[in-house]
Amino acid sequence: MTQIVTVQTQPFDGQAPGTSGLRKKVKVFQQANYAENFIQSVFDSVTRDPGATLVIGGDGRFHNRTVIQQVIRMAAANGYGRVLVGRGGILSTPAASHVIRKYTASGGLVLSASHNPGGPDEDFGIKYNIANGGPAPEGVTTAIHARTLEIDRWLTVEADDIDLDRIGDVEVAGMTVSVIDPVADYADLMEELFDFAAIRKAVADGFTMRFDAMSAVTGPYAVEILENRLGFAKGTVVNGTPLEDFGGHHPDPNLIHAKELHDLMMGEDAPDLGAASDGDGDRNLIIGRGRFITPSDSLAMLAANIEIAPAYKGRLAGIARSMPTSAAADRVAEALGVPCFETPTGWKFFGNLLDAGKVTICGEESAGTGSDHVREKDGLWAVLLWLNILAARQIPVDQLAREHWARFGRNYYARHDYEGIAKDGADALMAEIKDSLGVLKGHAFGPLTVKLADSFSYSDPVDGSVSENQGIRVLFEDGSRIVFRLSGTGTQGATLRVYLERYEPADGRLDEETGAMLADQIVAAEAIAGIVEHTGRTAPDVIT
Ligand code: G6P
Ligand code: ZN
Repeated sequence: MTQIVTVQTQPFDGQAPGTSGLRKKVKVFQQANYAENFIQSVFDSVTRDPGATLVIGGDGRFHNRTVIQQVIRMAAANGYGRVLVGRGGILSTPAASHVIRKYTASGGLVLSASHNPGGPDEDFGIKYNIANGGPAPEGVTTAIHARTLEIDRWLTVEADDIDLDRIGDVEVAGMTVSVIDPVADYADLMEELFDFAAIRKAVADGFTMRFDAMSAVTGPYAVEILENRLGFAKGTVVNGTPLEDFGGHHPDPNLIHAKELHDLMMGEDAPDLGAASDGDGDRNLIIGRGRFITPSDSLAMLAANIEIAPAYKGRLAGIARSMPTSAAADRVAEALGVPCFETPTGWKFFGNLLDAGKVTICGEESAGTGSDHVREKDGLWAVLLWLNILAARQIPVDQLAREHWARFGRNYYARHDYEGIAKDGADALMAEIKDSLGVLKGHAFGPLTVKLADSFSYSDPVDGSVSENQGIRVLFEDGSRIVFRLSGTGTQGATLRVYLERYEPADGRLDEETGAMLADQIVAAEAIAGIVEHTGRTAPDVIT
């Protein structure tokens, strides 16, 4: 008989999962009982059969190994029959999603703070995914949070740490722990989805790329898929070894944190494609030679071409994008005669649409793109779909983008982030815009007249659940738009995000500077929100 050890505890404040699980500083997670309370609250809240399988994923950041060992003991005490964990504690978020689905696990815990920095003084996170492989929906996260407020004990067993670096099965207090190759299942899935032969041929004909794994989880995946299976030259993958502190960088694939890649792609020696992924492998950055593709445009361009890839031939059912993502994808959906769904920020909102077969591809402005192959966004998948399309169409990224805009028009788009601002000021800013919603309609800001202003609310077309207060939208008569939203993923203060968009039709000005094209929207955003007054900032910290 397994001896279950019951440890008394008390609730901690602030264990409400955010946009993507519970994220805090490592020091917070290192407090006695802190991680255990949250994990036990998950185990107490989620439905599963006795002897169920649990997957543990992780992006390799500092503190992963400690928490993984604890999760294993707690899973044994909580009646799980089997745990699947990647060697070295590594399993990217999309790979974890795939493993949950493939091995019909009841769910998984993904240990990651995504693109946030790692290390003893940086961030850590725990997210629960359900049996479909996707992030827990709000009903589940609400139940987990409620449990964290009343928890008074957690369960564990007396057992030694297991060797996470050796593939194979071991037994922990009657439960099987399988340490699996973190890459193989995922790489096989990619090979089923895409035309690897066509990509290999393009590579043999001289197609080149650089993939920056940002010292995070995608390194081993990218080396196996891009270099070993597709034949790209050794060294195509840079920063390919996962490090516990990501080399001291932010593993965030944007133009600020992947500046070196961007500089390379804008220079004389640029390869054909530049790409990067984030800490846990679900985000992507795509840059062609001399051409950065915004995530919103990437979604639209991939959707317009997805049926080129073998696994998607003839089966684009619909497209979904998060509300702050530009409407570029909507134009594609309209032209192709498929529905387009607008969801709140957060991948979890795509889960029902994907499960119901209503959409095939989804994407977000926050550098996420994915499809119904898993239930998470998937960085390498997006890169491979780009590669498949470029190999089949045999055109450079820049030309593909120009042809796309000449057909669908162009949604100029930028996001302005004000990071680490005081929470009070951020809350006041949002509250004041909300109060003014009623009077904004018809109001003119320079050449822009407000057509509609609201606080975005979403009714899930599958289960009817309603999510309110998902950001403020100000739509103008000319089709341009400003969205205000507070980030749900930060660990310090508040981050204000201002999303700016302007549409130019196919016969309009398609090749202008984004900043200049959005000048009126930028002025209007300040006038509507009083950003300087509320945040004390005269310029955004990051523009993506
Ligand atoms: C995570 C989620 C994404 C979401 C993003 C928003 O990355 O997985 O689905 O778009 O957070 O982050 P924010 O900081 O804007 O709340
Ligand atoms: Zn991520």
